[in-house]
Amino acid sequence: MPIIRLRRLRKNNSVRELLVQTRLSIKDLILPYFIIEGRNKKQDIKSMPGVFRFTIDNLLKDLEEAKKLGINAILLFGIAQRKDFLGKEAYLENGIVQKAIRAIKKQIKDLVVITDVCLCGYTTHGHCGIVTPQKRKIFAKTQNFILDNDKTLEILSKIALSHTEAGCDFVAPSAMMDGQVKAIRQALDKNGFQNTGILAYSAKYASNFYGPFREVLDSRPQFSDRKSYQMDCRNSDEALREIEQDIQEGADIVMVKPALAYLDIIYRAKQKFNIPLAAYNVSAEFAMVKAYCKKPENREQRTEIEKNLVLEILTGIKRAGADLIITYHAKEVAKWLRH
Ligand code: PBG
Repeated sequence: MPIIRLRRLRKNNSVRELLVQTRLSIKDLILPYFIIEGRNKKQDIKSMPGVFRFTIDNLLKDLEEAKKLGINAILLFGIAQRKDFLGKEAYLENGIVQKAIRAIKKQIKDLVVITDVCLCGYTTHGHCGIVTPQKRKIFAKTQNFILDNDKTLEILSKIALSHTEAGCDFVAPSAMMDGQVKAIRQALDKNGFQNTGILAYSAKYASNFYGPFREVLDSRPQFSDRKSYQMDCRNSDEALREIEQDIQEGADIVMVKPALAYLDIIYRAKQKFNIPLAAYNVSAEFAMVKAYCKKPENREQRTEIEKNLVLEILTGIKRAGADLIITYHAKEVAKWLRH
């Protein structure tokens, strides 16, 4: 028996290129944006270098650039001007996201506009839904409230409808309420928006990797945590049930979030369901790469190190089974993939 020479297939760069199984493309990527009220602002975010909070005028400028680089899809997050207990700004006809969608659709051609549908950027308490105090102290002190699932569904439907009326292509409910996809699908259909899609944050874990994002939105929960609605990182079967449920409720695309510590979930979801699958390469996954590349000893080769790290990370997420990746690295990746 001769030696099996698998190295023949890795012999040189042209042979390796010929046999590549997972090719990352800029068209796989979705770039998130954070939008604030006002004019001519571009605020940076300490733990996320290169990511900003934009006012709409500057957002449009940045999008022109992103389009030129080949970015095909974006995900919008709004930051309320004045937060309140019920998150009422989230569904105003002239709310920040609604205005941004209209401006983008007027000025930028051929861009898939997806909007995050949630309350955490709009509520004073920072939770993703409507909070009702508990009359009787049946829970421990810290759990002295309930997140009212079905009341939240009404609000999420209103938000989704207001984004859709403004002209978005997909709404992306991320509150992890039971029945949110169904409620939103019904609201959109009832109002004649059969062609607006739903990208469901189906398997969204209660994760420590959202830290920098919560700094951006100032959306850290003011009491308790999100564990009664987001998933427990020790579970995986439950993720498949969540995804299955969302598909039945009418999701067009499903999502696993975060990505890196959850590649097994991405893999299992892709094996089990034949529906487009997105993965969210979240804020702390981004921030860790940035922090490492910023170290003084990496100064000279910073771009090279960062490029190789990011391409390996995103390729890994795609190899696990993601069709689409939401990532703050998208613009840089666009530049790197050109060469
Ligand atoms: C909120 C939401 C979160 C993210 C996207 N939508 C965070 C949270 O649950 O607090 C996180 C994204 C990121 O970390 O990049 N509904």
